[in-house]
Amino acid sequence: MKTAMNMHVLVLGLFVILGFIESEGALVRYTFVVQENNYTRLCSSKNILTVNGQYPGPTISARRGDTVIVDVINQATQNITIHWHGVKLPRYPWSDGPEFITQCPIQPGTRFSQKIILSDEEGTLWWHAHSDWSRATVHGLLVVSPKIGTTFPFPKPHAEVPVILGDWWKNDIQTVMEEFLRRGGDPAISDALTINGQPGDRYNCSRPGTTIVNVDQGKTYLLRMEYGSCIVILNAMLAGGWRWYSSLGMGRVRMQESCLHHEICPSVRTFIHSFIYL
Ligand SMILES: *[C@@H]1O[C@H](CO)[C@@H](O)[C@H](O)[C@H]1NC(C)=O
Ligand SMILES: *[C@@H]1O[C@H](CO)[C@@H](O)[C@H](O)[C@H]1NC(C)=O
Ligand SMILES: *[C@@H]1O[C@H](CO)[C@@H](O)[C@H](O)[C@H]1NC(C)=O
Repeated sequence: MKTAMNMHVLVLGLFVILGFIESEGALVRYTFVVQENNYTRLCSSKNILTVNGQYPGPTISARRGDTVIVDVINQATQNITIHWHGVKLPRYPWSDGPEFITQCPIQPGTRFSQKIILSDEEGTLWWHAHSDWSRATVHGLLVVSPKIGTTFPFPKPHAEVPVILGDWWKNDIQTVMEEFLRRGGDPAISDALTINGQPGDRYNCSRPGTTIVNVDQGKTYLLRMEYGSCIVILNAMLAGGWRWYSSLGMGRVRMQESCLHHEICPSVRTFIHSFIYL
């Protein structure tokens, strides 16, 4: 009898300890207003779906073990869900995102709080819409920093630079998807690839927004890369001197050490690194 009671106390104690461990992280809260906004790229305008009017969307920042609540308010005219790519969500798949699989879509004029329970994730993850092709413009970084009192598995960088890759169709994205489904075959390829939402200064009309990062020689910079494209597979190309740390070590990625301007640096070397699954 006494042993049984001791067992109960022990089991209760374990639950209290487990509960304490699970709720150890902070609670972080974000509001995502899904809306349509007029954006101009490649010299032409169209309405795109955004979060808080931003393309690419806002960065979610949290620490390892935190719980993030994102209040999604759908002010657009189509269903939406948001998926937290790379987050395992053990025993809590209910707001993981894929529409009609783990949750119902959030309908126009309604709201839903999506709960992201971080466990051992750390590094650069991303979030994206998981309904039709809305993810073409509804995506952003999910940065999970080390816990307070712990550090990166490498020397602290001088600065962090987001590098969000994507693609841009001049046509409406749902029209591109509907045409592709109707015709079969391959979808129409995008009119440009984008870095941080801009096609770059080789295209007309995008020179002012092109991402240029000024760096000091000898300092270390951390590139937080995310690839939000719907259809193409990109190789990451970085000039020499970069190291690749993957938060999701699966498979392998081909990286090229090269210079963007061949007239300055004509040599191109390809080497294989650990894979980053984006
Ligand atoms: C977007 O804005 C531009 C310039 O203000 C306007 O000419 C165009 O009609 C707008 N496009 C849409 C789809 O509302
Ligand atoms: C939008 O979501 C609701 C359920 O949440 C579903 O009944 C409806 O069919 C969806 N609409 C489209 C166009 O998928
Ligand atoms: C940029 O504009 C010029 C002049 O209108 C045109 O000749 C050229 O083809 C355009 N370039 C691109 C990449 O669209």
